[in-house]
Amino acid sequence: MELCVALDLPTFEANINLARSLRHKNIWLKVGLRSYIRDGEKIVSEIKEINPNFKVFLDLKIYDIPNTMADAAESMANLGVDMFNVHASSGKVAMREVMSRVSGLKKPPLVLAVTALTSFDEENFELVYGDSIDKKVNQFAKDAYESGLGGVVCSVLESKMIKSNIDENFITLTPGIRLNSDSDDQKRVATVEFAKEQNSDIIVVGRPIYNSKEPLKVVEEIIKRMQ
Ligand code: C5P
Repeated sequence: MELCVALDLPTFEANINLARSLRHKNIWLKVGLRSYIRDGEKIVSEIKEINPNFKVFLDLKIYDIPNTMADAAESMANLGVDMFNVHASSGKVAMREVMSRVSGLKKPPLVLAVTALTSFDEENFELVYGDSIDKKVNQFAKDAYESGLGGVVCSVLESKMIKSNIDENFITLTPGIRLNSDSDDQKRVATVEFAKEQNSDIIVVGRPIYNSKEPLKVVEEIIKRMQ
């Protein structure tokens, strides 16, 4: 299991200081909407400058018509990121077009599909998608797999189910990880130990790290719990 730290801080400097403090760790760093909209591609290049071995996950969760998604996918790949994501609900045609555009590139990034956001509970999920989380997550994961993507973003609660229904090697990246019972706005949360039990491949942790006074210590604690 690998750790991905979310760089969701309010300024470029704060994100970069966090990345610097973690420069000796073998981890992923996640650049999300807030940071990318504000700072653009310089955040990606700056992270790689701090440590070229940092793996960058560009978490923009794109959703649009197939051609626009494929264009955006190519632009993201050209930034030199190691992974990006799309919404599975954009459909198989769009996901296939994304894959056919990036797979021919020299260093194609890993592409994941977002299934159900971990901030959804059953009731609110059903209001939007008209079905249960489990059913829809399975269908979205199958669509993503059949479209040639490398894996999905899901909650820890769905990781094992997806792997057993689809393929053990299909990557599950799971946000909503907590060290204790605080859950912020996340609903389907789990501990590091539970994520490991559920065969999550990459865990994403944001606020428990960057809201702490000693982020490096929290990262070290998480890595210890991952063993
Ligand atoms: O602060 P926290 O640990 O909740 O951060 C989780 C990160 O993972 C956030 O950057 C959020 O945007 C992202 N994420 C998520 N649920 C998804 C996909 C991404 O929480 N399904």
